[in-house]
Amino acid sequence: MNLNECTFIIFGASGHLASSKLFPALYVLVKEKKISNFAVVGAAWGDVTIDEIFQSVATHIADIDEAVLSQLKSRSSYVRVDFTHTIDFDRLYAHVQTVESDYNLAGNRIVYCATASEYFSPITEYCAKSGLVQKTSPSTNPWHRIVYEKPFGKDLASAHAINTCIASHFQEHQIYRVDHYLTKEVVGNIALIRFTNCVFEPLWNNRYIDSVQIVVSEDAGIGGRGGYYDKYGALKDMVQNHMLELVALIGMETPEHLSGEYIRNERVTIIKQIQVVDAMLGQYEGYTDEQDVATHSHTETFAQAYLRVNNRRWNGVPFYLKTGKYLKKKEAVIHVKFKQVDCLLSKNCPSDSNYLTIQIGPKATFSLSLNAKKPGETDEVIPVSMDFCHSCTFGAVTPEAYEVVLQEVLRGEQSISVRFDEIEAAWTVVDQIAEMHLPVYAYKKNSDGPQESVEFDKKHGIRWRS
Ligand code: BG6
Repeated sequence: MNLNECTFIIFGASGHLASSKLFPALYVLVKEKKISNFAVVGAAWGDVTIDEIFQSVATHIADIDEAVLSQLKSRSSYVRVDFTHTIDFDRLYAHVQTVESDYNLAGNRIVYCATASEYFSPITEYCAKSGLVQKTSPSTNPWHRIVYEKPFGKDLASAHAINTCIASHFQEHQIYRVDHYLTKEVVGNIALIRFTNCVFEPLWNNRYIDSVQIVVSEDAGIGGRGGYYDKYGALKDMVQNHMLELVALIGMETPEHLSGEYIRNERVTIIKQIQVVDAMLGQYEGYTDEQDVATHSHTETFAQAYLRVNNRRWNGVPFYLKTGKYLKKKEAVIHVKFKQVDCLLSKNCPSDSNYLTIQIGPKATFSLSLNAKKPGETDEVIPVSMDFCHSCTFGAVTPEAYEVVLQEVLRGEQSISVRFDEIEAAWTVVDQIAEMHLPVYAYKKNSDGPQESVEFDKKHGIRWRS
């Protein structure tokens, strides 16, 4: 049986994620012949047509190959579904069966919940009840898998309720809680670089590491996603998932093997050990004028957090996190700052220590900054950098995150998915910050964030590496 033969059922098919990421990712899989036989069934509340959905999809694909797009479209259909009406799922299931029989598909199914998380439980329940998604064992053919987008819930209690609902219908090996950062080439490389290079692992602890900075700054606002964003904000949109997963990958102990379940075991251990020391929040000026944002909204578009990881390896090492919309530049980066060595020079001691910088975007690079002598008749010390540029070495064309998501779900590889306990541990961290009831300070667009963050940095001795 061909594992790359599949019916994709997308809940939320008329939404932003589906048109900007999921359909374009399917387009690439079709173009690169990564799926052999397939059908796509979109489902959403609205009275839209597949033509309308594809008009929007086309705006998100560069250099369209019309033949590929029309192949994808010819295999796609749309069913209007009220996610809270069990009867609509019977109709949807009947449609899926017809499509599978028309295209001679074996019945492998990926159900993708690209909806708000409040619908995850009813969708799960009605998919199970209708038979659209059945409990399958790891070796069952055809297989059924179900994917949940982030944010998974809005706090620990809601995430736990969704997990309980899912567990009552399906097995964990069928479940994918997506964090698209885990599919990024460089992020996937963090554990590998750490654990396969003798020059890093012995130094990777509080004896040699001074602090860790993780920054995901964006130079754009919330786009047309006001309705979604205003309910969540930066802590739930970015910190609870992408940023805490980065903390976990930097902080985790050596897994028994560098694969799926072993990595997830270590990631969850670290997230459970995180303690929030302090945090601060901001909102860009003009946010409340955005479409679908409440006039007096206090939702944060900027968040900074000072965390500690309470274990022997990291005792005393601060982890600083910063994320925000409409900041000066777009960058996702991790700086691991090593401790300063005792200066043995009579003068011109280096002003800074070594850094390992892992840039996730816009470029994919690893660089190590070292101190070296300035050339010529001088004993001046200057920082130099040893760089590994991913795209220079492996070529610029690396797959987009959602292409990887779909391919990994097709392969049944779960390391890109966040396990139930991991997601709940991450909510515990974000809930701690929510319970601090922090003020939300205004900041100017294209700035470094609120003025008050200068005070915050001073108070905690943070010097962001630029
Ligand atoms: C998404 C968030 O998960 O990640 C967005 O919902 C954010 O608000 C995006 O813009 C950032 O992802 P990337 O891959 O562009 O860094």
